[in-house]
Amino acid sequence: MTMLLSVSDVSISYGKVEAVRSVSLDVGRDEIATIVGANGAGKTTLLNAVMGILPQHGRIAFDGRDIAGLDIEDRVAAGLSLVPEHRELFGTMSVADNLLLGAFRRPRASAARAFERVYALFPRLKERRQQLAGTLSGGEQQMLAMGRALMGEPRLLMLDEPSLGLAPLIVADIFRTIGELRAAGVSVLLVEQNARAALQIADRAYVMELGGFILSGPADTVSADPRVIASYLGFQGEAAAPSAG
Ligand SMILES: Nc1ncnc2c1ncn2[C@@H]1O[C@H](COP(=O)(O)OP(=O)(O)OP(=O)(O)O)[C@@H](O)[C@H]1O
Ligand SMILES: [Mg+2]
Repeated sequence: MTMLLSVSDVSISYGKVEAVRSVSLDVGRDEIATIVGANGAGKTTLLNAVMGILPQHGRIAFDGRDIAGLDIEDRVAAGLSLVPEHRELFGTMSVADNLLLGAFRRPRASAARAFERVYALFPRLKERRQQLAGTLSGGEQQMLAMGRALMGEPRLLMLDEPSLGLAPLIVADIFRTIGELRAAGVSVLLVEQNARAALQIADRAYVMELGGFILSGPADTVSADPRVIASYLGFQGEAAAPSAG
């Protein structure tokens, strides 16, 4: 069976500077794939290119169809959606109106169904549907950004650092929701600084350094790799504890 998303040999440049070099990546159906890696590795650049925000060289297939030449709107229509790193909500608009923007160009009936689904996934957003987005807590804003992306009923949701700046309890909530999305048939491509949580929930993992993948495979295999343990998983907790001496 074909992958839902198949990126092959993709390169992305900012002017003369090549930020992503010849990477290939797959996301299967009903799967969570994660990209972990240090700051500046090229993770955001890659998600933006898959979404069609940045131009790329190379092949991108979605559901077996070549989408490399499509613009953003057509990629959205094909079933892709991106929650950007900085969430990009409309702060002076209500929660409900922000959500409605995500259903832009959808028939009214499907928008109503999408509202129901999003409110079921995030009851907090339903309680606060009249509140201005700018007055939401950081965690609620992340939920709203995810909710808005889900209003278009995507088949692949790309998340850029969803846990950024959030307290551990909220992070756990967000990750639980990501798992629920997979169970509901939405595939996820997750970029995360929190490598431990990301590798735990993911089916497939990629480790990115300096514009390329240095390692990829089933998430549990990648988690067990000594380089990953040393660079991304090692001594968390122990390192934070003050020494006894
Ligand atoms: N608009 C831009 N113009 C020029 N260079 C850029 C631009 N955006 C990003 N870069 C560079 O491309 C490289 C990859 O950046 P990118 O934001 O994709 O990394 P990242 O892996 O998402 O990092 P982080 O974990 O900090 O979010 C970096 O060297 C960055 O400086
Ligand atoms: Mg980034």
